[in-house]
Amino acid sequence: MLEGEAATLALGAELASLLHAGLVVFLEGDLGAGKTTLARGILQGLGYEGKVKSPTYNLVEVYEISRLYFYHFDFYRFDNPEEWEEAGFREYFNGESVCLVEWPEKAGASLPAADLRVRLGVAGTNHRHVEVQAPTEAGARCLKRWQARGSLLAPPAP
Ligand SMILES: Nc1ncnc2c1ncn2[C@@H]1O[C@H](COP(=O)(O)OP(=O)(O)O)[C@@H](O)[C@H]1O
Ligand SMILES: [Mg+2]
Repeated sequence: MLEGEAATLALGAELASLLHAGLVVFLEGDLGAGKTTLARGILQGLGYEGKVKSPTYNLVEVYEISRLYFYHFDFYRFDNPEEWEEAGFREYFNGESVCLVEWPEKAGASLPAADLRVRLGVAGTNHRHVEVQAPTEAGARCLKRWQARGSLLAPPAP
């Protein structure tokens, strides 16, 4: 459970320390769940000091952080999956980049697969719950280290 915006930012910073080029991370959950806040935490954790804008209107915000290409997408505005094909973003998903995707479901099935899927949900005004799945081996390695090191994802004490 994430209590307050600061906890979502801190979770992002934990994930930042585990990211490497080639990873694709989906950020799922309803409007207001905290996806952009988590992205902000990740970027701040990577040392980015500027303003982190929501990509809702531009579809993508591009960051170049110590030779890592970092793309933050938001496909909320897509009305159908063809718009993903037409937008020409496929080449952004490559071995040299980290791709964070809000609203991946709006891009449909031909969006490259996620290594990590972070699902956020509102749990009252001051809490968010978070669940992480790792569909690929690279994602699973990342999640394992995250659970071992990150206090915020550790399973609750018995
Ligand atoms: N753990 C949390 N507890 C309470 N509020 C949070 C938490 N995480 C984020 N928020 C707040 O939720 C609101 C929506 O966040 P945002 O990241 O824009 O959501 P999304 O990108 O999923 O639509 C923001 O006001 C943010 O400060
Ligand atoms: Mg958002």
